[in-house]
Amino acid sequence: MVIGGAIIWALTIGVLAYAGRTRPKPMSVRGASRLIVWGGVAFPVIVLFLLLSYAVWLMPQVRPWLPGAMDGTAEIEVTGEQFWWRILYLDQAGKPAFETANELHLPVGRRTTFRLKAADVIHSFWIPALGGKMDMIPGRDNTLSLEPTKAGIYRGPCAEFCGTSHALMAFSVVVMEEADYLAWRAARTQAPVAPQKTSGQELFFRHGCAACHAIAGTPAIGRIGPDLTAVGERQTLAAGTLSNTPDSMIRFIRDPASIKPGVKMPAFGMLPDGDIEAISAWLGGLK
Ligand code: CUA
Repeated sequence: MVIGGAIIWALTIGVLAYAGRTRPKPMSVRGASRLIVWGGVAFPVIVLFLLLSYAVWLMPQVRPWLPGAMDGTAEIEVTGEQFWWRILYLDQAGKPAFETANELHLPVGRRTTFRLKAADVIHSFWIPALGGKMDMIPGRDNTLSLEPTKAGIYRGPCAEFCGTSHALMAFSVVVMEEADYLAWRAARTQAPVAPQKTSGQELFFRHGCAACHAIAGTPAIGRIGPDLTAVGERQTLAAGTLSNTPDSMIRFIRDPASIKPGVKMPAFGMLPDGDIEAISAWLGGLK
């Protein structure tokens, strides 16, 4: 593609330079129409056809459809929502194992297959450092597989304009050594340990947070907002928008729309400061 583009660029600049150095000569109507037909229609059609054929031929090599991707078995289901990511880890049988949000954990050196969905509008799943990009379309399951080769933390932005806070919709990808990944996964699939009861937990339920959020090991099973199990160990809050600090949590609970316009979570600024601080402290401690 680069070579093809470079040749066309050189030809175009060459013709332009030539046109700039010669005096315009009157041209017959027949000559002009021949120039238009060959130079303006036939040439681009041939060149674009060749480039398109090359791209179509190249496509299967760029995105290999591996066994998992072919028969629809995925390990992780990611759903784009306005403006966050619902992440559902599946077990061997393809049944839901556990849910999380806005942060993926992946093993290094092994291919993981994703099933990509959208809950409302079109989003696009993209982790630039790991390659591949796939639209998430309502009513349709797309499949993508990726194989990280280096452990580390990467960022995945939403790559399709999906509303006011499209630019504030990102997730973190924590690529771990296989053993660490398995330990992390095991910790999530084991019977959840009830978090330590504090006034923050009591206030979380009293103020109705559990209507929208789920936390494993507690009676909170809300499905509308992001799952908050172990939210304290995430890299970011509000889908890649804020660093995960107690202060960010307090700001977000108080007035989410001031941080993320168009967010569905209502503001809780009417609660006493002490209550918001206690809830934030409890959530921050969930690990
Ligand atoms: Cu989701 Cu843009």
